[in-house]
Amino acid sequence: MNELQPKPVSASRTTFAQLMQPQHANTLGTVHGGVIMRLVDEVGAIACVRHAGHRVVTVAIDQMMFQRPIRIGHLVILTAEVSYVGRTSMEAEVRVVAENPLTGEQVHTNTAYVVYVAVDEQGRPVPVPPLQLETEAQRLRFEQAKARQAFRLQQREQARRAFAEQEPEA
Ligand SMILES: CC(C)(COP(=O)(O)OP(=O)(O)OC[C@H]1O[C@@H](n2cnc3c(N)ncnc32)[C@H](O)[C@@H]1OP(=O)(O)O)[C@@H](O)C(=O)NCCC(=O)NCCS
Repeated sequence: MNELQPKPVSASRTTFAQLMQPQHANTLGTVHGGVIMRLVDEVGAIACVRHAGHRVVTVAIDQMMFQRPIRIGHLVILTAEVSYVGRTSMEAEVRVVAENPLTGEQVHTNTAYVVYVAVDEQGRPVPVPPLQLETEAQRLRFEQAKARQAFRLQQREQARRAFAEQEPEA
């Protein structure tokens, strides 16, 4: 049983913003998707470290879709919230918004879901505090995240079986 004190979603909510510069460009001159993927992973990890009070490792990243290009010279604003916790795992929902700093116009470009596991100094999973849900939207999201997590664990089993079949007999 998890005997840690519950922590509210708001306690670990994390936002950061970064100006997109020429080194972030792809060959079309808009922002490279890998730059956004890295920022998503970082901000999600920070929210989960704050929730867990432990270091975390990324264990799964759901499919990411980029609905709109992001331009060089625009700000990328990422907001991460812990959307689900299991025993040692946590899902972060990361919302990505691009802002034209000259006009203040904002566009929601994508939302990503990333799963982290809290670990000790030896890299072994450790329990995390339960999540205190503060709004109806957070409760609904938690239930949806539970279903996503069940699906990921099914996929993990399939991947393990496929991997075992490919391994040569010892
Ligand atoms: C994360 C890690 C420590 C988990 O170890 P493990 O032996 O799989 O441990 P468990 O099976 O007990 O899983 C721990 C938790 O992770 C969850 N988990 C494991 N694999 C998962 C996956 N593919 N998707 C979602 N959750 C997963 C489990 O459900 C469990 O959650 P719970 O405690 O909330 O029920 C281990 O897989 C690892 O070190 N992975 C590499 C992480 C890493 O280096 N990331 C950076 C990428 S380079």
